[in-house]
Amino acid sequence: MKVMCVFGTRPEAIKMAPVVLELKSRKNIDTIVTVTAQHREMLDQVLRIFDIAPDYDLNIFKKGQSLSEITINSLKGLEDVIEKEKPDVLLVQGDTTTVFSGALAAFYKKVKIGHIEAGLRSDNLYSPYPEEANRRLTSVLSNFHFAPTKSNKENLLKEGYDEKNIYITGNTVIDALKYATSKDYEFDEKILNDLDYEKNRVILLTSHRRENLGEPMENIFRAVNDVVNEYEDVEVVFPVHLNPKVREVAKKVFDKNEKVHLIEPLDYLPFSNLMKKVYLVVTDSGGIQEEAPALGKPVIVVREETERMEGVEANTAVLVGSDYNKIYKNLKDLLDNKDKYHEMAHAVNPYGDGKAAKKIIDILEKELG
Ligand code: UD1
Ligand code: UDP
Repeated sequence: MKVMCVFGTRPEAIKMAPVVLELKSRKNIDTIVTVTAQHREMLDQVLRIFDIAPDYDLNIFKKGQSLSEITINSLKGLEDVIEKEKPDVLLVQGDTTTVFSGALAAFYKKVKIGHIEAGLRSDNLYSPYPEEANRRLTSVLSNFHFAPTKSNKENLLKEGYDEKNIYITGNTVIDALKYATSKDYEFDEKILNDLDYEKNRVILLTSHRRENLGEPMENIFRAVNDVVNEYEDVEVVFPVHLNPKVREVAKKVFDKNEKVHLIEPLDYLPFSNLMKKVYLVVTDSGGIQEEAPALGKPVIVVREETERMEGVEANTAVLVGSDYNKIYKNLKDLLDNKDKYHEMAHAVNPYGDGKAAKKIIDILEKELG
């Protein structure tokens, strides 16, 4: 059986890595790794950590490229690679533009498609944008739907997908997180070693979603900035996404605040180990919403909708949107109310047992082997 894995951004690489490693461990499977390189530095960081050398690197990355450019360049590059390799199945993970292009390129060549992390829905096509559309479009084209949770499966059933093609596997993010956080870890970054995680309460902040760019993002950052200034023992670490539209607002709002540490995007090992040490997380990231509950870290989700309600339902995440007052109030509440904090800070892991990659490949071997 020949399996081609296609991915292009940081989160896809993190969540696809356990799948690639599992595939490569099986002698009867020929594994081809193709990266679009929708991201460049942020993708390469992950490839390095998991020691994955792509067979094909389409290198489509251009600074500030539009969604159409990403789609067109991925599609064209993938057409050639699929034509040459003729895989039995092509795997994509998640909801980025690389994912949709990968599924479309495979469909055009009548290659079977396996969608990892299938069935997540926010029910608003514009939030997250364009991910909600990407994941719906990918579902339409897929032969195998690997749903992380029961409610993800139910979303697919509601849309009329055939139950025999839907498999609950857990999310491969937990496989990756276990790999990354199982050993003691020492940071290379001086600032991360210098922080006093016992004496001070360190907030981990990340934000990059397209629907938050501009004013909503400024509101998020101002609310965090104002709260931090009210507490002597609260500090923030913000590994800033490489998108210049994020960096501009981060610099404008936080520049003069010595208690807010703006740093470059971290490699996955330091990032996941930092998450283990911080007091709480403020984020609009998808993957971090899955990782933080597994590590027992309360999360303030700065998005209007989330397709990851499992954390909210388990009371480790609170969905607050991008309104200044709501973020200000919720963050202060969590800092002031110790009981509430401790209720939220219990480790629950709704996203799987860390064996999702093995389950996915077992299913493929059974169905196609
Ligand atoms: C993309 C995905 C999003 C995912 C996010 C993870 C789409 C439409 N969006 O968003 O679903 O949550 O990745 O981080 O697929 N840049 C660099 N170097 C890099 C990466 C990005 O300089 O390694 C800068 C470039 O200027 C680039 C910009 O960031 O144009 C935005 O990158 P892009 O891939 O278009 O979108 P993201 O916001 O990263
Ligand atoms: N992450 C990382 N370094 C960082 C920030 C995030 O390695 O500086 C990891 C994080 O642990 C998670 C993934 O990147 O696994 C999330 O990526 P991102 O927030 O960019 O995308 P999303 O999950 O929202 O699509």
